[in-house]
Amino acid sequence: MPALVLLGAQWGDEGKGKATDLLGGSVDYVVRYQGGNNAGHTVVVGDQKYALHLLPSGILSPGCTPVIGNGVVVDPSVLLSELSGLNERGVDTSKLLISGNAHIITPYNVTVDKVTERFLGKRKIGTTGRGIGPTYADKINRVGIRVQDLYDESILTQKVEAALDVKNQILTKLYNRRAIAVDQVVEELLVYADKLAPYVADTVLVLNQALEDDKVVLFEGGQGTLLDIDHGTYPFVTSSNPTAGGACTGAGVGPTKISRVIGILKAYTTRVGAGPFPTELFDEDGEALRRIGGEKGVTTGRDRRCGWFDAVIARYATRVNGLTDFFLTKLDVLTGWEQIPVCVAYEIDGKRVEELPYSQTDFHHAKPVYEMLPGWSEDISKAKTFADLPKNAQDYVKALEEMSGAPISAIGVGPGRDETIEINSFI
Ligand code: GDP
Ligand code: IMO
Ligand code: MG
Repeated sequence: MPALVLLGAQWGDEGKGKATDLLGGSVDYVVRYQGGNNAGHTVVVGDQKYALHLLPSGILSPGCTPVIGNGVVVDPSVLLSELSGLNERGVDTSKLLISGNAHIITPYNVTVDKVTERFLGKRKIGTTGRGIGPTYADKINRVGIRVQDLYDESILTQKVEAALDVKNQILTKLYNRRAIAVDQVVEELLVYADKLAPYVADTVLVLNQALEDDKVVLFEGGQGTLLDIDHGTYPFVTSSNPTAGGACTGAGVGPTKISRVIGILKAYTTRVGAGPFPTELFDEDGEALRRIGGEKGVTTGRDRRCGWFDAVIARYATRVNGLTDFFLTKLDVLTGWEQIPVCVAYEIDGKRVEELPYSQTDFHHAKPVYEMLPGWSEDISKAKTFADLPKNAQDYVKALEEMSGAPISAIGVGPGRDETIEINSFI
């Protein structure tokens, strides 16, 4: 019963979509367990490029059943347009399963996300504006709307009423916005009921039965470890748990079932939105990483902030996720630098610190301590084995592995499925 978790080890956009798609051919189920359409996962198959937001990347592998778990927040309009977009391109999406317990991102959640950010002003988080935080807030406040509520109009109406009771007071009195009518929301949500019905299932039961039947299940995280609500750079985080434990709660599978936890790790670092980022570059190296790496957000189109590899963060990701392996991505982007700085520790108020400080104040003061590693100039995009890499690229990978605390089992040398060096097999 191999169950694997695949998650982001940094601040998101590490290449989870590509890695999931690569494994998709050998697994039976790919499950999203948290987040929503704040995610943007790019998958390149041959000359076709797909940008997935809510759908698990396994949707592109014909033998694989894609599952949206109970821990995900679902915007029905985004889901349906993503499905029809794929159908138009000839992708069969009929196997999709959606948990009846997943929460729905309602139009008012999107409104609240946007007005809250506006009112935060310079303290804003830089959210994707997709209603993610307010939807999880409603879930925790026990005024959320779940997928199953679409199938009982009376319950749905009562729940929307309960949610809007307080929200309309805030919207009108605090934010100077118009009140949102209950009937209008209910009417809009009911339109989705029939369209989603073929996919709605008891996904917890399906997944546990699949594991008992020795099927291979892959849990695909959205975002990344440092964006985790508990373990990330709070408050500059997303509102869910992309870390490994989130796969258990977000899919209803016990921790004893998980056999492998793979951290997707970019060979340098990026971040979108506000918050601390010790190795961030503001010079031409940062510009070059952004240009060569194509570092533009898939969801919001924002430029990603870029910086050198941070081994302190990678070690932290190994620890909080219990990582068994790393999948190192975008090594090809670093080709051409004579020397590549790697952050091995921080200097905080004059002291060298080896591990990520738990204190937000300390992390804001962290200055990177760099070690210079020799670069390479040879094109590595055609490398198929570790031995095909130039010696300095091999040494870079080995150094990162040593510093990060888990074996690097695969290396990405390009965006395509086949542009991958597999060192240890994952399944
Ligand atoms: P995700 O959110 O973690 O799935 O990552 P994104 O799709 O947002 O961003 C990763 C970007 O890097 C995408 O454009 C991928 O096509 C691309 N990518 C993934 N792996 C590699 C790699 O090894 N090399 C290069 N050059 N690009 C890659
Ligand atoms: P993938 O899955 C990078 C960031 C936002 C913002 C913060 C909170 O593609 O790696 P939210 O809308 O979630 O409330 O925004 O989290 N963020 C991401 N950054 N990749 C993502 O997803 C992200 N999803 C959210 O930029 O800083
Ligand atoms: Mg992304």
